[in-house]
This record gives sequence, C-alpha cells and structure tokens, in this order.
Amino acid sequence: MNSSLLDRLPPPLPPEQIIALNRPKADLHTTRAYSWNGWDFEVPPGVFIPGATSRMIHQRVLDDEIDVRGRVYAAMGVGLGVEAIVAGLRGAARVHALDVHPASVAATEAGYHRIVGTDRPTEFLPRVGDLFAPLPDGTRLDVVTFNPPAVSRPVSEDPDIVRNVCAGTPVTDAFFTQLAERDLLAPGGEVFFIASNTADLRHIIGHAVHEGFTAHIHHLHDWNDGVLTYLFRLTRESGATEENSR
Ligand SMILES: C[S@@+](CC[C@H](N)C(=O)[O-])C[C@H]1O[C@@H](n2cnc3c(N)ncnc32)[C@H](O)[C@@H]1O
Repeated sequence: MNSSLLDRLPPPLPPEQIIALNRPKADLHTTRAYSWNGWDFEVPPGVFIPGATSRMIHQRVLDDEIDVRGRVYAAMGVGLGVEAIVAGLRGAARVHALDVHPASVAATEAGYHRIVGTDRPTEFLPRVGDLFAPLPDGTRLDVVTFNPPAVSRPVSEDPDIVRNVCAGTPVTDAFFTQLAERDLLAPGGEVFFIASNTADLRHIIGHAVHEGFTAHIHHLHDWNDGVLTYLFRLTRESGATEENSR
C-alpha cells in the first residue's frame, strides 16, 4: 500500500524553480506583525511567520479535524506557537511546544499565556531542543504536527533561514527515526506532517515507511503554480518496522 503511495508522490521541482519560489524575505531579522483568527502577534526576529501552509494545520486543529481534545499533543517546530495556542483552546490534555530556536519557544509561551491563559486544564510544556530530545523517555504522544523546514535546496546560507525553511531530509529523517526508536507514539497516535514538492517527498515518506509508519494523504492542495502541498497522516503500531509490517 505504501509503495503505491510513494510512486504517486511527485519528484522535487527543478532546483531553479524551488529557489525562485523560496526566495528568502529580507525581513526575517526584524520584528514583524501577524494576525489570524482575530489574534494579533508580534513576531520576534528569527521566528518563522506563519504562511498558508502553516494555516493548513492551524485551521484543522481549530476545527477538530486534527483532534487534540483530551489528548497529548506535540507541536514540533512550533515557531510562533499558533498551533499550541489553538490546541490549548480546544482542550488538549497536554501540549508539548517544541522548537530548537529559543526565541520561538519564548514567543510561543508569551502568546499562549496571553491568549489561552492559565486557568484551563491543559498542561502546557514549552521546551527548547533538537526535535524530541527535550521529552523524557516514556513520553507517549497521541497527536504530533510538523511543518518542517523540508525544502530540498539551500535557498540561503543564513542559518535562521535554513532552520526555518531548508534544513531538508536530515531533520525530517531524524524526526521519524526518533519517533520510532523511542516509541513516542501512543497506541492510536497520529502524526500530521506537511510538505510540498519543493521537498524530496519520496525520500521523506520512504524513510517514514522504513521506520514502520503507514502514510496516508490526508489532504492535497494544488497552488496552481507547480507546487503541490501534501498533508500526510501517519500512524505506526508499536514495534513496527518496514520488515515486519509487510
Ligand atoms: C516552517 S517553520 C514552522 C513554524 C510553525 N510550526 C508554523 O507552521 O508556522 C519550521 C520550524 O521548525 C523549527 N525547527 C527546525 N529544526 C528543528 C529541530 N531540529 N528541532 C526542533 N525544531 C526545529 C524552526 O525553528 C521553525 O520554527
């Protein structure tokens, strides 16, 4: 089943097109403004400003299509923190807000306390670190989202742009490997992972399958400029690997 899904995924767009589509904005190192769902945010320097791809996850958490209610949720690469905020409002049992970038985690904390507040039952756990490293062994996650810096071509040498946009398959491979090796997904757990054909989708999802995940295309968006964005839903039975899940 998964090999036919892999065959259906498009190869990466030509490098010139990827680079043209992802021309870095000059303002990443400034304070910017972002508004969504009636909320206004100040976006500190270096923090990723959410885009239409981000909102494909944010809106679905808000609408319970990505259902975090009463569940343990990890917002990987949380950036400004919108998905963590929405999960707190929707009533997640616990929100792990994770990012390698300290200013992103600080922005998430500030937004969460301002918009969600502290009088809700959700346990909010913001942590700085590489992928799942901040989570103690034995952590079990019901829902994970990740809008990764998966672009397959280096569109800049600026380390903040690389971290936000184009770290590529080393980060996405490590994401699935850590989830699998540390058995971090609870039974029935779901990973919502978003990436486009500016990334090497066959490699990324092929690696996830190798790590024992089953991948489904939850949603496909055609931007009519050659870019196809896939929201994948991946599941994994405990102990599954490519060899023993066939
Ligand atoms: C494309 S942005 C997404 C931000 C936010 N989730 C959104 O959708 O607007 C990617 C995020 O992943 C974070 N990131 C990159 N590498 C990471 C790593 N190794 N561990 C944790 N977070 C990482 C970046 O700092 C950035 O905030």
